[in-house]
Amino acid sequence: MDVEVDVNGVKIAFKRGKKSIPLVYIHGSGCDSSLWDKQLEEIGGFAVDLPGHGFSDDTNINSVYDYAFYVAKAAKNLFDKAVFLGHSLGGAIVQEIYLNFKDCVSGIVLVGTGARLRVLPEILDGLERRDEKVVDKLVGMSFANADESMKNEMKKKFLENIEVLLRDLRACDKFDLLGKYKAGEIKIDVPTLIVVGEKDKLTPIKYSQFFKSVIPQAELRVIKDAGHMVMLEKAKKFNHAILEFLNKRGFL
Ligand code: COA
Repeated sequence: MDVEVDVNGVKIAFKRGKKSIPLVYIHGSGCDSSLWDKQLEEIGGFAVDLPGHGFSDDTNINSVYDYAFYVAKAAKNLFDKAVFLGHSLGGAIVQEIYLNFKDCVSGIVLVGTGARLRVLPEILDGLERRDEKVVDKLVGMSFANADESMKNEMKKKFLENIEVLLRDLRACDKFDLLGKYKAGEIKIDVPTLIVVGEKDKLTPIKYSQFFKSVIPQAELRVIKDAGHMVMLEKAKKFNHAILEFLNKRGFL
């Protein structure tokens, strides 16, 4: 791996993009840093492997906060402050980093994520039984129109990491900041971009519209003809939205 950082004896790995800009990508459940290859190539930045994923060590993880702790501490080794960009579970981690480790955050990008991430019980139950059909269902719900090779690659990754995938989805299922946002207890005051695929079935557009309603200064970009895996399915449009945000907010 390109960069390795030690956090309390746990090795956290990052993949480095073409340009070393202070932008940290955080993947979602059962994925790893390779999810961001098209962004690392065109935009730059650093993509983390969460503990137990890719080239990072595993450790005792029970919640989204636990992941946030390792990512924030590892990122602090690389930068004083960074823009944190997270997808799905990764977007929940970004929110926990903002709430608990704000001194390392200069901006946030919330991609296909939500203030609450309940998971369909049939997905959790099926994964507990190691039911391959449920993995097919999850992969099917992840894309709008991806080609079969993209879907097969994701299925392979999910099956190889099924225990970690289940742990990640359980952490999502417990993640719930919805009430706190509604009560005005969470105020996000750093530059914020919200991105979602128009056809996202796992974290529907309304989750992103909710963010926009409680983070009025945020920009919301809905990418046409894309599903949950918007960074893979519509990489060009996705990258354009990120670059525009980074430029406009003075991060580049
Ligand atoms: N942002 C804004 N609103 C949200 C929200 C979020 N992140 N999560 C839930 N809500 C809202 C819903 O829109 C709904 O509002 P409504 O009553 O006005 O329609 C309300 O809160 C209840 O939410 P819902 O999601 O229906 O919760 P539930 O407990 O009734 O249902 C699931 C749970 C799993 C059926 C449902 O969340 C779902 O279909 N999730 C998507 C599939 C999935 O597994 N995704 C994985 C994400 S990692």
